[in-house]
Amino acid sequence: MHAIILAAGQGTRMKSAKPKVLHELGGKAMLGHVVDRARELGAAGIHVVVGHGAAQVRDWAAAHYGEGALRWAEQREQKGTAHAVQQAMPQIPDGAQVLVLYGDVPLVSVATLRELVTAGARTLAVATVELADPFGYGRILRDRGRRVTGIVEEKDATPRQRAIREINTGLLAVPAKRLRGWLAKVKNGNAKGEYYLTDIVAMAAKGGLKVATVAAHAAEVEGANDRAQLARLERVLQQRQAAALLQAGVALLDPARFDLRGALRCGRDVTIDVGCVFEGEVTLGDDVKIGPHCVLRNVTLGAGSVVHAHSVLDGCTAEHDCVIGPFARVRPTTRLAAGSHVGNFVEVKNAALGAGTKANHLAYVGDARVGARTNIGAGVITCNYDGASKHVTTIGDDVFVGSDTQLVAPVTVHDGATIGAGSTITRDVPAGGLTIARAREQKTLAGWQRPKKQPK
Ligand code: UD1
Ligand code: MG
Repeated sequence: MHAIILAAGQGTRMKSAKPKVLHELGGKAMLGHVVDRARELGAAGIHVVVGHGAAQVRDWAAAHYGEGALRWAEQREQKGTAHAVQQAMPQIPDGAQVLVLYGDVPLVSVATLRELVTAGARTLAVATVELADPFGYGRILRDRGRRVTGIVEEKDATPRQRAIREINTGLLAVPAKRLRGWLAKVKNGNAKGEYYLTDIVAMAAKGGLKVATVAAHAAEVEGANDRAQLARLERVLQQRQAAALLQAGVALLDPARFDLRGALRCGRDVTIDVGCVFEGEVTLGDDVKIGPHCVLRNVTLGAGSVVHAHSVLDGCTAEHDCVIGPFARVRPTTRLAAGSHVGNFVEVKNAALGAGTKANHLAYVGDARVGARTNIGAGVITCNYDGASKHVTTIGDDVFVGSDTQLVAPVTVHDGATIGAGSTITRDVPAGGLTIARAREQKTLAGWQRPKKQPK
């Protein structure tokens, strides 16, 4: 089976510099959804017909699938769907089966496509659906015996034909050899002056072939021509994903306020509060709780970990029973060992916190290696950047870093050390003991007068 994906359309109504098929649903280009379906079906070749923004589409494909994963056919002028399909045909062997997909109809299911491919093994099979409002679609024409005789486009239909509610989704499967023969005969003498792919249906029927139909679901046929339709499809996709997670035992407190732009794997009894966004690959262990309005991108959290409201986690891992947030920001390559805490208004970047270590308030921990059971006080800053390079701060086990301490990297604080609040640490701190590095000793000026406001 070779898939031909039609993607030459400009998508004027998107009012965008991006070609229509590169607009995203669930964080993935519409075309990506369609390509992935073709891959799941095991297509021997995936041929994308491009026109408007061809270079952009190719660059996108190279970045996402690698050079050469897709085959390209260029349609410089858009003369209709039959003409578009024809551009890909020279690359498809006669013995193959062709599956026609649309790059801007992204929510078609593999199940429907599998049925279509099976039905179209020897004959022409088209996916159809009954719509309450069939306006704009090609209508399926059937004879008295319910045999398909053709498809008529909206603009060419008689009022009686327009009343037909069974419509053409545009998705079809057919043996390549038959398709090639019919395509050669398609003419453009119709209301739009285009070469309609749908004309092959009447040709098949006239040739005595029984055209098969496969019933699709309404959401599977919806295309996205403008931002409003795209937003609607986004909701459909999100609802599907949410339903699958609920089904799998994940407690989504409100499936209508949940967004997944990638893959989410969950253990048992995971709870996700409202308004969270998951991106890339996210893995949550058993009993993990995610508070409201969190963003997690490429994150792995161990069992029992809790993320409180309004935290942003990116490219990090946490072992079991960690507590993060509220209002925490955990940046890439951070590793949190079991039972560690990253509290409110704490930013952690490229750091490893040992088991049971806590940075609970208003701290910046960047480029740091921190041991176990260490306490990082409120307002502690690792000064990792000297204006030119980044430097590492190393902190041992059982260390107590007093509030508002600056650790000027590179610097090492050895096991068991205590650093007095407000210290600026520029040299290594030995194990144990209390180290204080304040600019001046505290003193009191007894007769000092507070400045007074001058009357105007
Ligand atoms: C087409 C079908 C119609 C069906 C509807 C489903 C035809 C003649 N009609 O109509 O029966 O109900 O889809 O959505 O096939 N494209 C190209 N090159 C072209 C023309 C189109 O690549 O020269 C691409 C478009 O970008 C789009 C797809 O093919 O992805 C369908 O084209 P469109 O113009 O939307 O066809 P419709 O008039 O909607
Ligand atoms: Mg269309």
